[in-house]
Amino acid sequence: MKYVIKSGEPAHAKTACLVLPRAHATAVAAALGAGEQAALVLAGSKDKTGAVATVFRSGQPARLLAVGKDGKGKPSAAADFRKDMAALAAVLANLDLPDATLCLDLFDVADRGLGWKTATALTAIANACYRFHDHKSKRPAAAKLRRVGVLGKDRAALREAVRHAQALDAGLAFAKDLGNQPPNVCTPSYLAEQAGALAADDVTVDVVDEEEMQALGMGAFLSVTQGAQTPAKMIVVSYHGGGAQNTGTQNTAKENTAKESTAKESTGKENTGKENTTKEKNAPIALIGKGITFDTGGINLKSGATMGEMKFDMCGAACVLGVAKAAIAAKLPVNLIAIAAAAENMPSGTATRPSDIVTTMSKQTVEILNTDAEGRLVLCDALTYARRFKPKAVVDVATLTGAQVVALGNAASALYANDDDLASAIQNAGETSGDRLWRMPLWDEYQEQLKSTFADMKNIGGRAAGSITAACFLARFTKGLRWAHLDIAGTAYNAKTGSTGRPLPALYQWLRDAAA
Ligand code: BES
Ligand code: MN
Ligand code: ZN
Repeated sequence: MKYVIKSGEPAHAKTACLVLPRAHATAVAAALGAGEQAALVLAGSKDKTGAVATVFRSGQPARLLAVGKDGKGKPSAAADFRKDMAALAAVLANLDLPDATLCLDLFDVADRGLGWKTATALTAIANACYRFHDHKSKRPAAAKLRRVGVLGKDRAALREAVRHAQALDAGLAFAKDLGNQPPNVCTPSYLAEQAGALAADDVTVDVVDEEEMQALGMGAFLSVTQGAQTPAKMIVVSYHGGGAQNTGTQNTAKENTAKESTAKESTGKENTGKENTTKEKNAPIALIGKGITFDTGGINLKSGATMGEMKFDMCGAACVLGVAKAAIAAKLPVNLIAIAAAAENMPSGTATRPSDIVTTMSKQTVEILNTDAEGRLVLCDALTYARRFKPKAVVDVATLTGAQVVALGNAASALYANDDDLASAIQNAGETSGDRLWRMPLWDEYQEQLKSTFADMKNIGGRAAGSITAACFLARFTKGLRWAHLDIAGTAYNAKTGSTGRPLPALYQWLRDAAA
């Protein structure tokens, strides 16, 4: 979608379709000589949140869209504006015209400014116009809408909002495409290829293969892929947008493997204290995504009914790669490491047996009592691996448990964190972006459920509190890290409409906030 910044009187806008709040529709229509027509249309249409009334005219603009409920002078709530924009976006996606202009200053939203209104509207429109037709022999028609004008007085605010909306669109489309590809296309190697295309001057992409995982001692990760024919890949995208970092963090993943032992000592003793503080501030944020390209459950085979949905079990990986793509596109001033832990979980003669015991990269041992609890097994080793980057925060993103869907449905992702400030920052970013998260506990009581007779821990915690015990499992690998875990099983996709890209909007907003 092309976004065009516009100023001036709404009635003078050169556009095929003018979008107005219901309260202003008649007045603007009157300035265009269509006041009576508009009044009639409004009289015959619903005055409520999420309603869109269309006034047809001959000439330009050919349509006036009156959106939402007439607040009679009172500002609308942010949540209502969001509903209005979703409804508007659905209308625009089916519009038979190539462009529309939004009169954003006329929309009065409580406690929210032009930048937020623009971001909210544009992301809603991009979401509604997204299509995935790679595998249709006859491609259905794309949305006609090509250009969206955003009209307002504060051009600087519009420019900034449009710049970020474009970056977020690119990241979201990338993440959704990856999620929607079938598992015979989207293998770990395919993810590595797609991530490889992000490489640029300030972006390196490294792929850790199974042999290197072996050398690193990633016994948990490898146990997940050992039944599969397609090789596992841990993909590491490093984006350097945020200034100099401590030694070790600037190296590529491969160099670090070699320099692992020396990097620990070289924390820059020769630097002044000031330089060190700056470099700590510039420490990267590490994002880790679960990238199970298909989750059959392994020997603990899933039942048939919904197994097809398990192609979406790599949406966490798609999300973190999408965040990287968006951050790169917007040139966000941050240092970012995005790690996709990609493998296929298959049953076979070489697959992990329930009761196998493996040694993780952290040297802790795990009794695998259910091969369908595989996400935590790839993530725990990826979390340990991420330590080499000396990250200032680590966030993992995973379609981890069916229990998360039971607890929160698709309204919110589950948020776990060992740091209250980090949790609030992510949760607030979710509110701002309309991509909600809800915090869940990591209390010690739940750790009891992971006790194993034969190893340091089991990989399952029983029926009760399934999303929490999965998070508690990961917590055992994040001691000393500022860490958050997002369980996105209910939010990452819709079985009918496909991948949502969530929680990419929240994470992108969080990175923006962190960079500011
Ligand atoms: N990928 C699934 C979780 C999932 C379920 C995602 C539904 C999206 C929708 C995960 O690997 C899994 O199978 N989890 C098990 C864990 C259990 C065996 C402890 C689950 O939730 O049943
Ligand atoms: Mn599973
Ligand atoms: Zn899974």
